Amino acid sequence: MATTREAIQIPARESSSPAFDVKRIREDFPILKQKVHGKPLVYLDNAATSQKPAKVIDAILRFYTQDCSNVHRGVHLLSERATEAYEGARIKIQRFLNAPDSREIVFVRGTTEGINLVAQSYGRQNVKAGDEVLITAMEHHSNIVPWQILCEEKNALLRVAPINDRGELILEEFEKLLNARTRMVAVAHVSNALGTINPVRQLIQRAHAMNVPVVVDGAQAVPHMKVDVHELGCDFYAFSGHKVFGPTGIGVLYGKERLLAVMPPFQGGGDMISSVTFEKTIYNVLPYKFEAGTPNIADVYGLGAALDYVNEVGLANIISYEHALLSYATEAISQIPGVRIIGTAREKAGVISFVLEGVHAHDVGTILDREGIAVRTGHHCAQPVMDRFGVPATVRASLAFYNTKQEINALAAGIQRVKALFG
Ligand SMILES: Cc1ncc(COP(=O)(O)O)c(C=O)c1O
Repeated sequence: MATTREAIQIPARESSSPAFDVKRIREDFPILKQKVHGKPLVYLDNAATSQKPAKVIDAILRFYTQDCSNVHRGVHLLSERATEAYEGARIKIQRFLNAPDSREIVFVRGTTEGINLVAQSYGRQNVKAGDEVLITAMEHHSNIVPWQILCEEKNALLRVAPINDRGELILEEFEKLLNARTRMVAVAHVSNALGTINPVRQLIQRAHAMNVPVVVDGAQAVPHMKVDVHELGCDFYAFSGHKVFGPTGIGVLYGKERLLAVMPPFQGGGDMISSVTFEKTIYNVLPYKFEAGTPNIADVYGLGAALDYVNEVGLANIISYEHALLSYATEAISQIPGVRIIGTAREKAGVISFVLEGVHAHDVGTILDREGIAVRTGHHCAQPVMDRFGVPATVRASLAFYNTKQEINALAAGIQRVKALFG
C-alpha cells in the first residue's frame, strides 16, 4: 500500500478489458493533472459532481467563440447553428435514454428542477386532499422536499417506504404502502448516500399495476449504468448533466408524451407559447411548453459532448471497470479497524459511505484533503438516511471510471493516517 502519495504510479492497463485504458482516459480530464496541497489530486467526490473531459469544455467554448446567439428565434446563421446543435443534443439524449420521442426530452437545470417540475405540474393537477405520494427512506432531499411542498399544499400524505440495515428498500413494505390513494411514486434509481441500486423496474411494475405513475431520480444512475427509459417503463426520469461529466446548470427531464401533453406549464414566458393575447395564451408544443425563457444553450452543447464522450468510452467498459474498482475499494476500506461502512446493499454503484470510530467525518475529510484526497463529508442531502443509521454524518468516497486502484490505496493510507493522528 502506498504511504507516500508521490509514489502513485498508474499502470497503463488497470482493467482486464483491453478497450479500457484508465491512464489514457485520465489524459482526457485536464483537472486531474493538478496537485492539491502539493499532492496529486485524488478526486473521489464524483457523486457531488464529476470532472469534465476536454471535449465538454471545448464544446462550451465553441458555443461562446463561434455560435453564440439565441435559439429558435433568429434567421441568421449563428442562430441556425446554435438551434441545430441545441436540438441535436436533445436527440443525442433521446437516444442515450432510449426515449421513444425527442419531444419527451425537456431541458431543465438539473435533477432538482426536473422533480420540481413533475411535482408542481403533474402533482398539482393530480394530487388532491387525502391522496398519497410514496417515496423511499433513501431519497435525496430533492426527491423529498418537492413532494412535501405539494402534500402540504394539497393536504395529501407523504408515505415513506423503509430500508433495511444494508440500506436496501424493503419491497414488501413498499408494496404494502402502495394503495388506492397513492397518486405518485418517486424513487431514486441509485442512492447518493448509500450507493444502493433500487430495483426500479420492479417498483414501476408494482406501481403501474395500481395505475400509479412513477418518477425516477436518476442523478446517480446515469453516470454509472445503462438507463433505458423505454424498458424501465417509468413515466418520468430526471438527471443532472454535471454528474455525467457534463456542465453544471443543465439537466434533463424525460416524461411520457401522453402525460406531458396534458400537464400544465411549470413556468410561463417566452418560447413556451404559441400565441399570447391579454385574454388567452396558447401554449407551445412539447417539449417547448416546459422550456420557458432563453435556455442554457452553452451547457446543452456541453451535455451533448459529455454523452458523446461516455458513448466513446463505452458504458459496458465503464460498468465493468467501476464494478471491479468498487469491490477493490470496499475490501480496502472495510478492513481498516474502526471503519464502518454505511450502505452494504447487494446491488451497489460507485459509493462508499463510512464512519471512522472516534473521529468526526468532517475531521476525516479535512485531513484527507491535506493529502490531496477529495471526499465529501456530511449528510449528503439525505438527512433521513443519516437518522436511519444513527449517525450525524458520513465520509463518502464516490467513484468515476477515471479513478484507479492506486487512488483507493491512497485513500486507505489517508484513513490510516487519520487514525494515527487521533491515536
Ligand atoms: C440522488 C440525487 N438526487 C438528486 C440530486 C440533485 O441533483 P442536482 O443538485 O444536480 O439537481 C442529487 C445530487 O447530489 C442526487 O445525488
